[in-house]
Amino acid sequence: MKISVIGTGYVGLVSGICLAEKGHQVICVDQLSTKIDQINQGISPIYERGLNELLTKNIHRNLSATTDLNAAIQHSDISLIAVGTPFNEETQAIDLQYIEAVSQAIGGCLRHKSSYHLVVVKSTVVPGTTDEVVLPALEQSSGKQAGQDFGVGMNPEFLREGNAVEDFMSPDRIVFGGMDKKSTDLLFELYSVFKGVDKIATNNKTAEMIKYASNSLLATLISFSNEIANLCVAIGGIDVTEVTGAMHLDKRISPILATGERITPHVTTYLEAGCGFGGSCFPKDVKALIAYGEKAATPMPLLDAVMTINAQQPYQLIKLLKKHFPELANLKVALLGLAFKPDTDDVRESPTLPIAQTLIESQAQIKLFDPIFKHLPDFLSQMNITLCQSLEDVITDVDAILLITRWPIFEQLPELLAKLPNPPLVIDGRRMLNKNTISRYEGIGLGKS
Ligand code: UDX
Repeated sequence: MKISVIGTGYVGLVSGICLAEKGHQVICVDQLSTKIDQINQGISPIYERGLNELLTKNIHRNLSATTDLNAAIQHSDISLIAVGTPFNEETQAIDLQYIEAVSQAIGGCLRHKSSYHLVVVKSTVVPGTTDEVVLPALEQSSGKQAGQDFGVGMNPEFLREGNAVEDFMSPDRIVFGGMDKKSTDLLFELYSVFKGVDKIATNNKTAEMIKYASNSLLATLISFSNEIANLCVAIGGIDVTEVTGAMHLDKRISPILATGERITPHVTTYLEAGCGFGGSCFPKDVKALIAYGEKAATPMPLLDAVMTINAQQPYQLIKLLKKHFPELANLKVALLGLAFKPDTDDVRESPTLPIAQTLIESQAQIKLFDPIFKHLPDFLSQMNITLCQSLEDVITDVDAILLITRWPIFEQLPELLAKLPNPPLVIDGRRMLNKNTISRYEGIGLGKS
C-alpha cells in the first residue's frame, strides 16, 4: 500500500521505516528540510537500535522523504499523523496544536484529491481527539465529507525507546480504530503483513483510551511498588525486594505451566521499587489523562496518587543520604546515570534531574557518570556538575554514590569499591546490587532493623 507518514520524530520515523521494511511504499514528511535531507541520505536523525540499518536498506527503494506534504498526500492512500502531543504545564492539558495544524494542512491537500484517502492518528491523543478535532478540521479545510471522500482512523503505538524497532516489527498487539467499516478494513489491509498478531479493531475513542490505559497501568504498578517500598523503610526490618519477589510468584502474575515450569512475565519488572519512572510517555500520558478526567468531571484520584508518589520518589535518595550526612554542603556525591532508563540517551523526566537540582541547591559537589554521555546535554552544561568518563573515575574520592539508572555496567560497582581504601556509602535507587557485597549500603525500600 502507499503510505505517507507526517512527522519524522521518534514514532513517525520508526513507523515509516518499519512499514517500508514490511513491503509498503512509504513517504516520510517533515517540515524540517535538514531532517528530510538526512533521511534521504540514509542517516537516521535519531538513534534507535537497528533503525539506521533498516533506513539504509529501504531508502530510495520502498522509502522516500520529502517536505512536500501535498505531493505525499497525492501519492499515497493512507496518511499516518505522527506529530508531537506534549503536555502543556501552563494549561494543564495535552497540547493539540500540532495535531490541529497538520489536520488542517492535510485537509487542504485533500481538497485537490479525487480518490478516497484514509487519515490515521498515530500520535497519542486523549479520547475524542480523532473524531472531534481531527475529523472536523479535515472536513473544514478539504470541503469534503468524512465517510464519503475520506476516512479517519486511530492507531496508537506501543513502542519502548531503545526497543522501538523490535516492538514495531514484532508487536504484541495491533490496535486500530476507524470511523466506519471502510476505514477499519483499510487498516486491516495495512497491517495484514503482520501475521499471527492479535489485532483489535474498534472505534477511534476506544483506540485512544487503550493507549492511555496501557501506559497508566504500568505507571501505577511502579508507583504502587514505590509506595510499599517507602512503608517498608518506615517500619524497618523489611526489605521490599523480598516482598515484591514473593508477590511476583503469585501464580496469577507468574503462571505455573502443566510441566511445572514457571513463566516470569516482563510485567514483574514494573512491580519493583525504584526512584521513579520518567521518559517521554508515562509522565506526559498519565498527566494528560488526569487533566482529561477533570474536564470530563471525573477526577482520577488513583492516577493523581501515581503522579504524586512518582514526583516524590527521587527525593527518597536524598532522604537516605541525609540520614548519613545531615549536612550536604561540600559533600562529594557521585550520581550514576542520567538517562531516564538504560539503553537510551533520553533524559526527559529523568529522576537524576530533581536529585541533581537538590544537591546543587544544597551546595554539594556533584560528579556524574552515564555510559552513553561523553558530554553533558546543553541544558545541564551551566550546572555545577562534573561529567566523568568512567565508573572508576566517578566513584573515586567521593563520600556517597547514588545509583539512579539501571545501566548493567553499574553491576561492577561492588568489585570496584572493594579496591578502595575507604569505600563511600552506596545508595541504590534501583535495588540492582546485592546489598551483602557492599560495606556501606542503603537502598530504596530497604527497611533496616
Ligand atoms: C513506554 C511504554 O512502555 C510503551 O509501550 C509506550 O508506547 C511508550 O511509553 P518508554 O517510555 O520508552 O515506553 O519506556 P519503558 O521501557 O516502558 O519505561 C518507562 C518507565 O518505566 C521508565 O522510567 C523505566 O525506568 C520504568 N520501567 C521500565 C520499569 O520500572 N521496569 C521495566 O521493566 C521497564
